Amino acid sequence: MNQVKHIAIIMDGNGRWAELKGEKRVKGHEAGATVVKNITTYCSHNKDIERLTLYAFSTENWKRPRLEVEFLMKLLDRYLKNELATYLELNVRFEPIGDIRAFSKSLQKTIKDVQDKTAHCDGLVQSLALNYGAQNEILRAVNKIKNSEDAITQEMLSNALDCKHDVDILIRTGGDHRLSNFLLWQSAYAELFFCDTLWPDFTTADLEKIIKDFTTIERRFGGLK
Ligand code: FPP
Repeated sequence: MNQVKHIAIIMDGNGRWAELKGEKRVKGHEAGATVVKNITTYCSHNKDIERLTLYAFSTENWKRPRLEVEFLMKLLDRYLKNELATYLELNVRFEPIGDIRAFSKSLQKTIKDVQDKTAHCDGLVQSLALNYGAQNEILRAVNKIKNSEDAITQEMLSNALDCKHDVDILIRTGGDHRLSNFLLWQSAYAELFFCDTLWPDFTTADLEKIIKDFTTIERRFGGLK
């Protein structure tokens, strides 16, 4: 039976969820943040799960209207400040991935602060992908190691990435069937789950069902049974 160590989620559908209710898109992001907390809490109680990596803001999301981008930045700042106590209580370590240098100095400080204050936690690792794009991550990694005297190996490149861990389960909510530049290297052998549920409606029961289905899949990693 497969054991799940690393779950990654593309949390899509916040805007549509709000629009379906006649609300502004940002209401969907607010509701989505509550689901981030619920799913993190659930994963922190499952001792098999070591990592939960969530796509919170992509390198492409800057193309959204300025007000939506600003709202997302404020929401992230507020979430991290408000939930620091929860991270500590659940023994969850916060490890951002992505190039956060593009964020305001004060948001960078909040991110760093929560990272530092949870560095000793040895339960679940929750990674938020922030100004993250897999192509950008791979490029930054290559630039870090390009002056190596030896030929670059798979291990060297993997170790130079922000996220150094293979994904077991990759989930995308919201009905679309694409990877949107998320963890492309790490998902080489991930099992992919696409569900129509919009992220604010995604529940721990939905996740539990996906994990159950995952355990029965035959993973061959390119080999034979
Ligand atoms: C995609 O939905 C979602 C995002 C671009 C942002 C994800 C943010 C959250 C889940 C909330 C904030 C997170 C934290 C950690 C505080 P969409 O806006 O593309 O939805 P749509 O496809 O319906 O338009």
